[in-house]
Amino acid sequence: MVRGLASRRVSDVVRVGVLGCGNVGAALIGLVDEQAGAIEARTGVRLEITRVAVRNLSRERAVEVSERLLTRDTAGVVTDADVDIVVEVIGGIEPARELILGALASGKPVVTANKELLANVGAEVFAAAAEANRDLLFEAAVAGGIPIMRVLRESLRGEPIHRVMGIVNGTTNYILTKMSEEGADYGAALAEAQRLGYAERDPTADVEGFDAGAKAAIMASVAFGVRVVAGDVYHEGISRITPDDIAVADRLGYVVKLLAICERVDGEVAVRVHPAMVPRAHPLASVRDSYNAVFVEGDAVGHLMFYGRGAGGRPTASAVLGDLIDAAVNLRHHTHGPMGIFARTRIRPMDETTAEYYLPLEVADRPGVLHAVTGVFAKHDVSIRTAEQEGRGDEAQLVFITHEAREADVQATLRDLRDLEVVKRVGGLLRVIGS
Ligand SMILES: NC(=O)c1ccc[n+]([C@@H]2O[C@H](COP(=O)([O-])OP(=O)(O)OC[C@H]3O[C@@H](n4cnc5c(N)ncnc54)[C@H](OP(=O)(O)O)[C@@H]3O)[C@@H](O)[C@H]2O)c1
Repeated sequence: MVRGLASRRVSDVVRVGVLGCGNVGAALIGLVDEQAGAIEARTGVRLEITRVAVRNLSRERAVEVSERLLTRDTAGVVTDADVDIVVEVIGGIEPARELILGALASGKPVVTANKELLANVGAEVFAAAAEANRDLLFEAAVAGGIPIMRVLRESLRGEPIHRVMGIVNGTTNYILTKMSEEGADYGAALAEAQRLGYAERDPTADVEGFDAGAKAAIMASVAFGVRVVAGDVYHEGISRITPDDIAVADRLGYVVKLLAICERVDGEVAVRVHPAMVPRAHPLASVRDSYNAVFVEGDAVGHLMFYGRGAGGRPTASAVLGDLIDAAVNLRHHTHGPMGIFARTRIRPMDETTAEYYLPLEVADRPGVLHAVTGVFAKHDVSIRTAEQEGRGDEAQLVFITHEAREADVQATLRDLRDLEVVKRVGGLLRVIGS
């Protein structure tokens, strides 16, 4: 504890300990500096940052932080008598989990931006928040600056939500936009994303759908009030998408997007991440570059879409700051917002989900081929909506779009098609979403 800080306390000051001062933490400290007066005028609460914990004390920061506030003692921050609320923007599961549990056990509300933690050990930290009767707020954990968690938790509490679909990873949306608008191949678009700082040197978490999967687990939990963890989410990434897939989709009136899809079906919940062909007229199709958007389908409310910056220091810090103000005002009123209560439910396996499917086949160009191929679809009860032939001779390709079908039936169709003598190559399957 630093001497002198306690004596400055007045009743409307809420003292904040920030764990982490990287992209988000530094931007948050900057925003609090800029906005403290306006926030006080609007809410009656003055936010004051009293501790900032980091790993490396000598690192240069994007924001000026008084040496007196900086510490490496993260555990000390969560129990410090000069800290009323803890903001966790370190990331990863440990030590973040232990620190959040420590803060709640000390009676301090917590604000976090940590999707990895919530998607893996969310149940434990929400139970600790309920036990402590303290807020645990996490707006920034999904879609950065887009205020979707609060909407799902509060505004839509009375709404039976059927489906939440999101473009929640800016890196992959940037890559797919480059591929569709400039004809770039996947490797070149990824290299450009890395050059611009949109993609990490190891892009696996983004391009293989892990990041979007963690966000999908959190969105499904909050939208449906059920317990979903990252391991429940089926995910496929974008690394196998070719410029050809995108060009054919374009000719047919679709745009290829990586979607996180959370659905409630017959009392169960299905959660998945995969590339999908989205009709050009669908609002999600117009979300370009590194932007994110979340599309919500409700019973009474109809369709809603939330669009904006899904990442970046300042947009994400803006969401953290909104939570921080809520937590501070609640603390001053000796109350808290809605608690995360998540029931157990069956998570529908991918095999049992349904969609329309796009399937390109390279086939021999001779009579009887179409009959043989459609026979395989019929055998597995997969009904064809459109079938087109593109090219002739060695270039001949059949392109199918099915009616709504079960994933397991479509996969069985694919297996049989691969064994068919007239089929030279089965192209990449894409699900068609939002027709
Ligand atoms: N960046 C975004 O656009 C974005 C968007 C949405 C959500 N988020 C989430 O926000 C969180 C923070 O992301 P970020 O981009 O700000 O990360 P970052 O730039 O890597 O910053 C992490 C900070 O945590 C500190 N830290 C790491 N391990 C620590 C430890 N063991 N003890 C003390 N301090 C430690 C680091 O200290 P040093 O600086 O001394 O190394 C650094 O200041 C993550 O959960 C992330 O998923 C980020």
